[in-house]
Amino acid sequence: MTAEQHPAQDEASDVQHVPVLTEPLLERIQLPTDGIMVDATVGHGGHSRHFGRQLGPAGVLLGLDVDQHSIQRARTTLSDLACRVVLVRENFARMDEILTQQGIDTVDVILADLGFCSGQLEDTSRGLSFQTPQPLDMRLDDRLTTTAADLVNSLGQKELADVIYEYGQDRASRRIARFIVQQRSVKKLTTTTELAAVVAKALRRGGKPPRIHPATRTFQALRIAVNHELESLDALLDAAPDRLKPGGTIAIISFHSLEDRRVKLNFRKNKANGLYEILTKKPMTAMPDEIERNPRSRSAKLRIARRTPG
Ligand SMILES: C[S@@+](CC[C@H](N)C(=O)[O-])C[C@H]1O[C@@H](n2cnc3c(N)ncnc32)[C@H](O)[C@@H]1O
Repeated sequence: MTAEQHPAQDEASDVQHVPVLTEPLLERIQLPTDGIMVDATVGHGGHSRHFGRQLGPAGVLLGLDVDQHSIQRARTTLSDLACRVVLVRENFARMDEILTQQGIDTVDVILADLGFCSGQLEDTSRGLSFQTPQPLDMRLDDRLTTTAADLVNSLGQKELADVIYEYGQDRASRRIARFIVQQRSVKKLTTTTELAAVVAKALRRGGKPPRIHPATRTFQALRIAVNHELESLDALLDAAPDRLKPGGTIAIISFHSLEDRRVKLNFRKNKANGLYEILTKKPMTAMPDEIERNPRSRSAKLRIARRTPG
């Protein structure tokens, strides 16, 4: 999918992504001037730019992103840094292989700011939002072959319910799946608003309107499934201890409890194995002034661990 095919993507990519929790990150993580940092989700380069300023000409910043548009944005944002900037369009699940390809053994910092950028949410070709009718796509990496529409229109009712339950934690998953299967037997679901309407219908009840849109959890579930988000996170977390220098730091910002729980358990396991010291007993969250400036930071949780010399 190219920008020519989707003019909306050009406009959306102009939307500025404001990096979250930058202050606590910079307070806790300092790079030596000849250090090496992996920004596993370089996005628009917001975090990378802050850290990249700490690096001199002998330093390296390796930025990964699955989205070509993010890589292009980061290239501009990071163009005037003194360090060597290497940007690779790859899933962070492959960090290990990419470090080997780049001839890098161990690094000082691994940072991942999970999920999607503001521009991706605004990009009407991507189907991450149900505020306007958009194709039911949800791929952050357009080289993936399965879209949300493929899942919604082809999974069996039980499989669909399992996805919605497991990744969306929606207790009404079976009812939602039943309504989707009924609807698609009449007409395939092709847009985000069509899907949102079916989910809303499945969950329609009297009484107070719900706090969040009834389709929010189903959308989260499909996005996680389409992008293999949890498997990728596990692969990154598993590769990290061998790729961090002694004293090196891993910092992960997550936006929902399924991610945060995985990070917490991985850090605990590596602490028990003597590989990590955990620097954040509880996840750090945004202060009220950051939430006011950048509402996206409301659900962000930051966990940091340091590689022990062992
Ligand atoms: C929240 S944004 C990162 C923003 C960035 N920290 C900044 O300050 O501009 C998340 C980015 O990670 C990318 N992404 C999500 N999952 C990924 C994965 N498994 N591997 C690589 N990039 C991923 C998305 O395409 C998006 O550009």
